[in-house]
Amino acid sequence: MNRTVAIIVAAGKGSRAESERAKQWCDLNGRRVIEWSIRAFQSHPAVDDVIIVTGPDVPDGFHSDGCLLATGGDTRTQSVRNGLQAIKDPAENTAVLIHDAARPGLTHAIIDNLLEALSTHDAAAPALPVQDALKRASDTNLVSVSRDDLYRVQTPQAFRFGAIVHALSEAADDLVDDLAAVERQGVAVKLVKGSDRLHKITYPEDFDMVSRMMTPRLAFP
Ligand code: CTP
Ligand code: MG
Repeated sequence: MNRTVAIIVAAGKGSRAESERAKQWCDLNGRRVIEWSIRAFQSHPAVDDVIIVTGPDVPDGFHSDGCLLATGGDTRTQSVRNGLQAIKDPAENTAVLIHDAARPGLTHAIIDNLLEALSTHDAAAPALPVQDALKRASDTNLVSVSRDDLYRVQTPQAFRFGAIVHALSEAADDLVDDLAAVERQGVAVKLVKGSDRLHKITYPEDFDMVSRMMTPRLAFP
């Protein structure tokens, strides 16, 4: 049977969130931000290994029980590469779910949908259609942009190991996300329904917004 490995990238500095320590280590509803995602993956029956990619700022009281560790890089893309290298005995077909530590609202339903999509595609990601009106604006110009076919893409992004490793070997080091590595390679990508709860903590006000969405229904063991 194909193995499934989760990689949580947590080696960023969180500069825009302006918190005392990097956002992934901050408390959110009684757990560190990263711990919500660790628990979501570890309690999912299909997930065999969880790899956490960290920088030098791991707090003393943090226990990564049951997780493999990898060292972060200067960019998110480099951190992902390091995480992929930490996979034990990877096969071409190993399912890899690459997730931002800064998105604590992960659910088993999202993981289920991604893994199902991977049975027919080489890559999959949660996405939500853009709802607001879009404009391209400058000091002198304002033009409406069609929302048709435009999506906000979240994480986890799921790949067959062979597809993502090959794509990243030829990719730049500062990709906007991991799908960007495969998008021009003719890889079959499936977008599954994303979730507001998967919102990424980026700015200070995001802590409150995400905290309100972390209802008890997300309480993993
Ligand atoms: N990340 C990482 N290694 C890096 C940069 C980012 O593992 N060199 C991770 C972050 O820890 C985060 C995810 O990638 O979980 C998404 O990145 P982002 O939201 O940009 O987080 P930061 O880079 O930490 O924040 P900022 O850009 O505001 O400094
Ligand atoms: Mg960043």
